[in-house]
Amino acid sequence: MRALILGASGGIGAALVAKLTARGDDVTALSRSTDGFDLTDEGSIAHHLGAVSAPFDMVFVATGALELQGHAPEKTLRSLDPAALAAQFALNATGPALVLKHALRLFPRDRSCHFGVLSARVGSIGDNGLGGWYAYRAAKAALNQLIHTAAIEIGRSYPKAVIACLHPGTVATPLTQKYAGNHPTVSPEVAAANLLGVLEGLTPAQTGGFFDWQGKAIPW
Ligand SMILES: NC(=O)c1ccc[n+]([C@@H]2O[C@H](COP(=O)([O-])OP(=O)(O)OC[C@H]3O[C@@H](n4cnc5c(N)ncnc54)[C@H](OP(=O)(O)O)[C@@H]3O)[C@@H](O)[C@H]2O)c1
Repeated sequence: MRALILGASGGIGAALVAKLTARGDDVTALSRSTDGFDLTDEGSIAHHLGAVSAPFDMVFVATGALELQGHAPEKTLRSLDPAALAAQFALNATGPALVLKHALRLFPRDRSCHFGVLSARVGSIGDNGLGGWYAYRAAKAALNQLIHTAAIEIGRSYPKAVIACLHPGTVATPLTQKYAGNHPTVSPEVAAANLLGVLEGLTPAQTGGFFDWQGKAIPW
């Protein structure tokens, strides 16, 4: 199997690369810190995705951030900041959607391609009982809508494609270091195994969905 992992330098991304490599898959790994792959620059996305040869059986977008450009997640509406919102949308919503736009040429037509993108349960509007974290929540909700919308369109020309937004659980990575608190975490290795099990177990009938690390659908 050929897999393309974007955000391969991250906690979850690196664990995905390690897991796939260990089981003998042919893995192409791209990241900002190693390769200059910058999700906030469409030219960079087009350049890097244009340089890899098709087809891939799996494309996994493992990029993202909770705290961006010094903006911590908001505890109150008083902290809402247009620059923080724009930065969150650029990285966590627009970036992965542009990856899907430019990765489409890598999808095989004769068999399935599993495209997974790391969303977050806090992006669920239906599941939001706590409030706070405005920009991150809104960016992940927008990501879910963009990916869901694209999956409907892509399903018409690639009926075997499986495209999914995934919640990894609370994972011990640099992203959660300051925020996990007493919340139980799993290791990136466990999260990677869970995510691969879920993504590879999804069928084309489930394309466009939002699933947690156990494979359970999360409300929008
Ligand atoms: N950890 C959790 O508990 C948790 C829970 C829910 C959802 N998630 C989601 O899972 C994803 C990955 O999280 P993680 O915990 O693995 O975080 P992480 O260890 O901090 O890794 C973040 C990754 O995103 C990349 N990245 C950041 N800005 C980028 C940019 N402008 N262009 C390209 N790549 C960029 C980083 O690349 P460089 O380091 O190379 O710059 C790194 O590979 C995020 O979308 C996060 O929202 C995580």
